Amino acid sequence: MAETVKERIVTLIPGDGIGPEITKVAVNVIEATGVKIKWEEVLAGESALCEYGDPLPEHVIASIRKNRVALKGPLTTPVGGGFQSVNLRIRKALDLYANLRPIRKFPGIKTPFDNIDLIIVRENTEDLYSGLEHIVVPGVVESLKIITERASKRIANFAFSIARRWKRRKVTAVHKANIMKLSDGLFLKTVREEAVKHPEIEYNELIVDNAAMQMVMNPSQFDIVLTENLYGDIFSDLAAGLVGGLGLAPGANIGDGVAVFEAVHGSAPDIAGKNIANPIAIILAGALMLDWMGETEAAKKIRKSVELVLEEGKVRTRDLGGTANTVEMGDAIIEKILKM
Ligand code: NAI
Repeated sequence: MAETVKERIVTLIPGDGIGPEITKVAVNVIEATGVKIKWEEVLAGESALCEYGDPLPEHVIASIRKNRVALKGPLTTPVGGGFQSVNLRIRKALDLYANLRPIRKFPGIKTPFDNIDLIIVRENTEDLYSGLEHIVVPGVVESLKIITERASKRIANFAFSIARRWKRRKVTAVHKANIMKLSDGLFLKTVREEAVKHPEIEYNELIVDNAAMQMVMNPSQFDIVLTENLYGDIFSDLAAGLVGGLGLAPGANIGDGVAVFEAVHGSAPDIAGKNIANPIAIILAGALMLDWMGETEAAKKIRKSVELVLEEGKVRTRDLGGTANTVEMGDAIIEKILKM
């Protein structure tokens, strides 16, 4: 992740629902660190659909490709019918094959466990999210689960590289190869081939249903969880729920030399426009972004400030049991940053 970019232009996608409220706060927090960023703001999602007739106009992808880095608010995807997920289209268009979701317990946040500090590494381009669905005959549909050796190898390689670079002790592969012998079987076989190349990193495997139970009973056994697209999607929300909810979980979508940073949560239409969403997930995604840009000191400042605010517990949004609004939460974090 330690990549230094020369020109600090970042594509900013405010997103749908709570997106514009929380990205605005995240931008203010990032700027408070003193890092100079020129934000290239582009619309995607419902606002782009209204403006351009396409929820993902070509110039959005062109902007991210040019700048190599984007901070993105959540984008709404209609359930059932409607347009294809814009998130999926972005990930595919830029081949953002690795989805990285760090989950850890913050001081001051009440959770059933004290020692959760794990990273979910999720393959981001294939599996049941390939978008290949068709009607076989009326009343029968088929969704294709695509697993390739190439994608499995590169995500496994990514997970072990992260483990080495961030001095992590263990990689756990999560699969269902006992039932899906071909697809998950190929994933697992490929991961094993990568694992033997990294004998210094402990490696184990868990079947997904058992892994889900282990996650809620003994999460501290996990360090890096390496898995396919669908399991990774479910697991990251599950794990986020153990440490205080989606309002605290950042994510990154990483490809070769290009990355899009976002919160794990969605556009939360139930609370949109009310200035009550928790901005911390996207603020922490901003810290991940700064790491990726080589601005590690600024990233550290943000993380530390978030920790201090949560530990003090005076300013909390509603999802964390408080009464503070989105802007107040951002301002409390900025106040800490400015004192560092
Ligand atoms: P969601 O994550 O938007 O909301 C789930 C629950 O968590 C809601 O009760 C919401 O109010 C709460 N929540 C989420 N973020 C919060 C925050 N920052 N602060 C406080 N509470 C928060 O999931 P949902 O409702 O399933 O999806 C809504 C839309 O978001 C859908 O269209 C979905 O496709 C999209 N989505 C987009 C994602 C992205 O852009 N990466 C990721 C997940 C969903």
